[in-house]
Amino acid sequence: YTAEIDASDTEKGTYPHFMLKEIDEQPIVMRKIINEYQNENNELKLDTDIRSAMKAADRIYIIAAGTSYHAGLVGKEFLEKLAKIPVEVHVASEFSYNMPLLSENPLFVFISQSGETADSRSVLVKIKEMGYPALTITNVPGSTLSREADYTLNLYAGPEIAVASTKAYTAQIAVLAILAVDTANAKGIELDFDPMQELAIVANAMEVLTDQKEELEQLARDYFSTTRNAFFIGRSGDYNVSLEAALKLKEISYIQAEGFAGGELKHGTIALIEEGTPVIALATQKNVNYSIRGNVQEVVARGAKAMVISLKGLEEDDDAFVLPHVHELLTPLVSVIPMQLLAYYAALHRGCDVDKPRNLAKSVTVE
Ligand code: G6P
Repeated sequence: YTAEIDASDTEKGTYPHFMLKEIDEQPIVMRKIINEYQNENNELKLDTDIRSAMKAADRIYIIAAGTSYHAGLVGKEFLEKLAKIPVEVHVASEFSYNMPLLSENPLFVFISQSGETADSRSVLVKIKEMGYPALTITNVPGSTLSREADYTLNLYAGPEIAVASTKAYTAQIAVLAILAVDTANAKGIELDFDPMQELAIVANAMEVLTDQKEELEQLARDYFSTTRNAFFIGRSGDYNVSLEAALKLKEISYIQAEGFAGGELKHGTIALIEEGTPVIALATQKNVNYSIRGNVQEVVARGAKAMVISLKGLEEDDDAFVLPHVHELLTPLVSVIPMQLLAYYAALHRGCDVDKPRNLAKSVTVE
């Protein structure tokens, strides 16, 4: 289905499902973000008020729900590692009623594809009453969260129609990377990281991955056709993606799936491993490559059916799938693509309604 695709189109065209179309649009969205966030001189182009607000903050509180929360976890890594600002990421529905102790000069960052999630809005209303500044990162400029915040960053992902979020997640991560670098620049922090160049490499890698559907469909058949449960494991940056991978699989295939930190398995979850339990491990981080592979051996020794998805350069002979090399900070943008496609094909082969899974809504406007 690789004919011309337009990310701003609201029709499926030749695609059987919106989800598959939206997965394929991700390289286009990356390139759109690169274009929108740089000027003619290839410099980052962000609202100077946002830059000042980021610079003034002593701590960032990211507030979001669902997939957007998972993008926030990745964003925390960027903001802490590149811009050196401490970041807390909170599930909106929890933050609302159980507010943590706040720093002196907090900045609230709301991440929301729709800009309409009631749980996030409830936090926004509360923190505005308290007089704190807010930035909303959304796919819908003019949405409630965008109008009621002080600042907005647009995702430029085009309409996302499938209930399970795909291109909005990667767009959120890309925009968070740009925001982190812009903040580092504003703070005079020297970086050895050109976000636009690295995102362009990511866009090409995404294209390679979306062309590997047949391989991923086969893996989905082998691992998910009949299973009742599945585990995704990763360490460090891969742990964040394993949470999103599990959510994608749960949402559309109804397989009970959980994401775990590789090292935490032995503290309880490993009791669930039986003969044939699918365990999907991500290995894209050099400093934990050895340890995550140790975790894979632990589950295999207990009967798990393991699948390792690794990054080029860190791969081993038995790995099921190797991702093209991208900058280590940006690996979530590529490692999530096979996860989205595995979930898609698992749901398809199990006869589920891919675009409109049971019990879920695209935008939840009640608390
Ligand atoms: C709903 C959707 C999820 C989404 C979440 C947050 O639950 O089904 O896919 O991640 O809301 O939505 P938002 O629009 O705030 O990103």
